[in-house]
Amino acid sequence: MSEIEKRWHSATAAAHALGWEDDVTKSLIPPIHLTSTYIRDPDNQYRSGRSYGRPHNPTHEVPERLLSHLEGGAGAMLFSSGMAAATAVFLALKPGDHVVAPKVMYWGLRHWLMNFVTEWGLQVELADAGDLAAIKAALRPGKTKLLWLESPANPTWVVTDIAAAAELGHKAGARVAIDSTVAAALLTNPIKLGCDLVMHSATKYLNGHTDVVAGALVTAAADEFWARLVAFRTSNGALLGPVEAWLLLRGMRTLPLRLERACRNAQAVAERFAGDPRVCAVLYPGLASHPGHAIAAKQMKGGFGGMLSIRVARGEMAAISTAARVKIWKRATSLGGVESLVEHRASVEGAGSPAPPDLLRLSVGIEDAQDLIDDLDQALGN
Ligand SMILES: Cc1ncc(COP(=O)(O)O)c(C=O)c1O
Repeated sequence: MSEIEKRWHSATAAAHALGWEDDVTKSLIPPIHLTSTYIRDPDNQYRSGRSYGRPHNPTHEVPERLLSHLEGGAGAMLFSSGMAAATAVFLALKPGDHVVAPKVMYWGLRHWLMNFVTEWGLQVELADAGDLAAIKAALRPGKTKLLWLESPANPTWVVTDIAAAAELGHKAGARVAIDSTVAAALLTNPIKLGCDLVMHSATKYLNGHTDVVAGALVTAAADEFWARLVAFRTSNGALLGPVEAWLLLRGMRTLPLRLERACRNAQAVAERFAGDPRVCAVLYPGLASHPGHAIAAKQMKGGFGGMLSIRVARGEMAAISTAARVKIWKRATSLGGVESLVEHRASVEGAGSPAPPDLLRLSVGIEDAQDLIDDLDQALGN
């Protein structure tokens, strides 16, 4: 990356894929490298730095550099899914290590932590990550090795004061990692706020077109733990396929535009249904009524994200029937695509979920905001 490219703003860096061009063919778009192995030099070296398809594929290099640039990191690694990226961080810890994670977080990871990780000897403690005192109480100085955060957090969009939480984590001697999927590399800058690692389900906003499952980690420093994570991915084999890496880069080129529109649409939907008698709560960090609004306003820039939830006043069955009546919104899991999705979270998350039974999660896409509002309005009924 040249000195000029290092100074590029996110929109320029993304649109130009950091200025990549092929020195030989003059192609503007990086190729897809479909290979599982690389030629060794005659003197037995691998000067290209690549030996085999499980640790390396050049198709990853531009999206990894671009993501690292957007997050202000020292490096990034793509994984075969967001879960593969997140679980790598926990699996790189040692038996007996204590970790603190949020009570409200992506349910799939919480489920894995509570059902698998504890059996392997990690001690997992869940804390209300919207409350710094609760985080502080859960941390065990010298024993807690990882503080895991997510902000805004699925599905009630709890906002963590990232800078303050990172300081608490570091004081206790823990590494601090954050699932920043919803902030999508542009709305929050966790590394500047003190986090050591940033995780993304790149399936979501980074790719943005609902056609790739991918994950990523970004590190603040090229330190020993990062080297352990690199080694872990190599041996574990959770590498993203080259076609998916190529599609991901194509999606990332338009991330700033898509995200800007999703944030604007989400704010419009939230404002329209806040106070509507058919909805007993609109959970969105962009509304002043949200408990995390002031902190979100301090640590997010360019919008409050494309994710919100509504609680349907007449309860669970009314929420499920609302989701059944939408025509533009799609009833589907996932988030961060160009098309808006609606989902009854309690049905997905099952027992132990912090999602109230009357909650519908909305992933707001890039359609016309009024169409989305009108569709939800008719689906809510009288
Ligand atoms: C916030 C968040 N983190 C992590 C994940 C897991 O990512 P993936 O589905 O790419 O494994 C998801 C998936 O829904 C998510 O929403």
